[in-house]
Order: sequence, then structure tokens, then C-alpha cells
Amino acid sequence: MPNEFLTDIQTLRKRAREHIEKGAVTQGYTANLETVIRILNEALATEIVCVLRYKRHYYMATGIHAQAVAAEFLEHAGEEQAHADQIAERITQLGGAPNFNPDGLTSRSHAEYVEGESLVDMIKEDLIAERIAIDSYREMAQYFGDRDSTTRGMIERILAMEEKHADDLVNLLTTLDPTKKG
Ligand SMILES: [Fe+2]
Ligand SMILES: [Fe+2]
Repeated sequence: MPNEFLTDIQTLRKRAREHIEKGAVTQGYTANLETVIRILNEALATEIVCVLRYKRHYYMATGIHAQAVAAEFLEHAGEEQAHADQIAERITQLGGAPNFNPDGLTSRSHAEYVEGESLVDMIKEDLIAERIAIDSYREMAQYFGDRDSTTRGMIERILAMEEKHADDLVNLLTTLDPTKKG
């Protein structure tokens, strides 16, 4: 009895032998690779810009003796770097090339690089950047859908972390200015 949902074993075996140079990208991959790689390179640029912004904020906050806030910035910088690495690795798995070119980095990135004057400014800018990342990652996850569930899964895990970052930053803002508590 043929299985009505799954491709038969002989076909699966035959397909796997074709185009082995494509590695993880098999015939069953139905997403548009070019689009996926372009989107992932935008996500990569976003993460790199976030690393740079958090690093800048970390060193500036350290200078104004705001150790707790500085520590949070540094932790976020490390986590954004880890996201950048995961995204770059996925791009190469899909046969693409991760774009680390500093030229055009800020225009490829969804989030902005804003230095911020005061500690509160820095936290607000980071929060805005996280909120941009949250919405763009949510859209990306919806786009990948069932067409590339591995990329969707990775983006969803990153999205969960960006939501945590946003929550951390809101908590810092309320600690610094309790009147903001809603
Ligand atoms: Fe991130
Ligand atoms: Fe983040």
C-alpha cells in the first residue's frame, strides 16, 4: 500500500543521490533560496549593527559608572553576536555567502545605530532597535513558514531572545525612572 502522505522510499533515495553538491538543500526545499539568503543577510546586518550599538553603549555606560546597565548592554552584545553567527552559518548551509561587508551595513540592517547621549537615551534606542527586530523576525518566521522550517525555527528562537532583551530594557527604564511604571 503506498503511503498517501510521504514520498515513496525509492524516489527519496533516488532524489538524494542527485545534486549531492547542494548538501542540505534537497529537492524537497521549496522556498526561494535567493530570497531566503537575502532576508538572512538583512538579519545578519541587523545583528551586527546591534552588536556595535550595544558595545558602544557598554563602554559609554561604564564611563558614567552605571555598572548594572553596562553589564546588561554587554550581555546583550554577546547574545546579538551569537545570533549573527547562527545566521551566517545558516546562510552557508543554504549555499549562500554571508555578507560582512561594512559598506552598506546600516542600510541592510533593519535596526539603526544610534549612539544616544544619556544612559536613558541609550536604553531607549536599544529598546526601539529590539522592537524593530521583534517585528521583522516575526514577519520573517511567517514568510519561512513550512517552506524552510529549519530557518523558521532558528529565527523563532532568536525572536524569543529579542523579546527578552526588550523586556530587560523596559525593566531598566522603570528602575531608572519609576514614574514610567504603567
Ligand atoms: Fe539578536
Ligand atoms: Fe536583542
